This record gives sequence, C-alpha cells and structure tokens, in this order.
Amino acid sequence: MNLPLLRELDDIQARASADLAAAKDDAALESWRVAYLGRRSRLNLILRGLASLPLDERRPVGAAANSLRQGLEEALAQRQAALHEEAVTATIETGRLDVTLPGRPIPVGRLHPVTQTLRDVLGAFEAMGFQVVEGPEVEWDYYNFEAVRIPKDHPARDMWDTLWVDYRRNGDYPMLLRTHTSPMQIRVMEQTQPPVRIISPGKCYRHEATDPTHEWMLTQVEGLAVDEGISMADLKGTLFEFAKRIFGPERRVRFRCDYFPFVEPGAEMAIDCFLCGGQGCRSCANSGWLEILGCGMVHPEVLAKVGYDSERYTGFAFGLGVERIAMLRHAIDDIRLFYSNDLRFLEQF
Ligand code: DAH
Repeated sequence: MNLPLLRELDDIQARASADLAAAKDDAALESWRVAYLGRRSRLNLILRGLASLPLDERRPVGAAANSLRQGLEEALAQRQAALHEEAVTATIETGRLDVTLPGRPIPVGRLHPVTQTLRDVLGAFEAMGFQVVEGPEVEWDYYNFEAVRIPKDHPARDMWDTLWVDYRRNGDYPMLLRTHTSPMQIRVMEQTQPPVRIISPGKCYRHEATDPTHEWMLTQVEGLAVDEGISMADLKGTLFEFAKRIFGPERRVRFRCDYFPFVEPGAEMAIDCFLCGGQGCRSCANSGWLEILGCGMVHPEVLAKVGYDSERYTGFAFGLGVERIAMLRHAIDDIRLFYSNDLRFLEQF
C-alpha cells in the first residue's frame, strides 16, 4: 500500500481548504483553481500517473484522488456562491434608501407681481358684475385710434407714441401694436347690444424711451359699462368701490377733469396717499394724492360709431395701468424692475 501518496492527498486537501477559505474575490478563486485543480496541479499529476502504479495501489489511490477532486470542485462552487451572495448583500446595504430622511424642499414658483395685482384688480370688478374679455395686441389703426375719436393728424395721437406694424392690407388703416386697451370698447360694442359691463386686461405697447415710470410694454385694464340711465355717479361709485378693495377701506377718492378724446367729460381719479396718509411723501410727490387711472363718460360719437342710440344709452369707461398700481401697493420705485428678470426682485413677492 503506497502510504506516502495517500498522505500527500490528505495534505493537499488540508492546504486547499485553508487557501480556499482565505480567497476573497474572483481573482483569488481563479488562482486557487489553477493551483489545486489545474492541469499542472499536483492532484492532476497524481491522477494522470495512476496507470503506472502497481495494481494494488492504483485502486485505493485512484479512489482517494478522484474523491478529492470532486470534493475540491464542490468546495470551489460553494465558495463562489457564498462570495456572490456577500457581494449582493453588500450592494443592498450600501445602496439602501433611508426613507426616514427628510425630503429636500422643491423650490416653489410664484406669480409675477404684475400678475398678482392684475388678478386682484380683475377680482374686484368681477365681484361687481363685470365680465372679462380679451382682445388682440396687434390692432387696426381703426380700433386703436379712429373709432375712439383720434383721427389721423389729430394732435391727440401725440399722447400715444405708436409702434407700427409693417403690414398694410388696407392703405387707410394700417396696423399697430395697440397703445392702450380702449380699442376693446369698440370691439365689444360692435358685437353686443346694451347693457354692456366688461373689463378687458392686456398688454399694450408704446414707442417710448424707458425711465423709472415708463416702459415700452405695459399692462392695462379697460372698463366699460353702457346702459340706459348710466351716469357719472355710477362711474364714481364703481371706481370708489374698486379703490377700497385694492388699497384699503379708508381710501378717499378725488376726481379731476382730464382730457381723453373718447370720453366727455373725462377725468383722472386719484386716491389719498396710503403711504403717508395724505401728509405728502416721495411716492405722492408731496401732494398727498396718487393718480391711478383715467376715466369718463363715453363720448356720444363713440356710441354712435358702433350703432348705439346715443340718445337712449349712456356709459362710462376707465383705463388703468396695472404696473402703476403694483408699484404703489409695494412701494416699487422703478417700473423697469418688473421685466428685467432679476430674481432678487421677483422673489420678494
Ligand atoms: N386709454 C387711456 C390711456 O391709455 C386710458 C383711459 C382713459 C381709458 C380714459 C379710458 C378712459 O377708458 O375713459 O391713457
């Protein structure tokens, strides 16, 4: 019986087990496989040499060597599986989501300050029964000027520096970017019979050098009410109510004559300065009053232009600048801040 060979197999078995336990990754496993099961491993040499052994040794050595090889192959497969499992567990552990962590706040957008004020203005008039109507920003000369009693060559055109659109379908009535929302008075009356009670918000454009109180684009809200028996008292009551809602219940209101071609009489409305309580401050130019809009009784010729019977119907109209109102409410001293997209400004509202 060849005892040395059997002992050597025992020895291989012992070393192989110890080395396998120490192998920690795929590369180590592969070296282990080459060392103990490879073509040039001692075990393989013994297996290949079996044939040259004396018959009585061949059987026991062969059995022991084959069972060792099988044992080593199984041990390798087990170790591979164990390492794989460990790797998966480690990945799960390190990549785990901690659902108890507080969330990261998502930055919340906000409405532009002009939009906020516009919505409040519309809300105040809607509460009084006015309906909101919108119209085109590119407008015919006819609606913007002619129909509201500002004919060509009329000096009143100087009140609105106009951006003309280079598109003339009709030579007499070129197109422009509307300079105010007043053309919507005409568009609405052309489509409806009295009673009319509308407000019309929208952007207007002027050929203007900008400064702290002038922009080339502004937002206006036009108002129009036409019915039998509408008087200046209705105009004052409506606008007084509006001022209270937007600027506070204590407001006093002042009407003074002003000129607009499409109203007669025309007026400008001011509220007592809510910043200084009427004492006089920078915002009200020390007058104690803040002018907030233009208004008046719709000129009979404007009513006649849309086919209304101006003997039977009367109406009032008004037009206000939303930026101006937002500036007053928030004590903003430069209109250009609204559209210069500076987040430090916009995020304050
Ligand atoms: N459209 C005028 C402007 O842009 C504002 C205005 C004044 C509108 C008097 C009116 C009004 O309806 O009656 O300056």
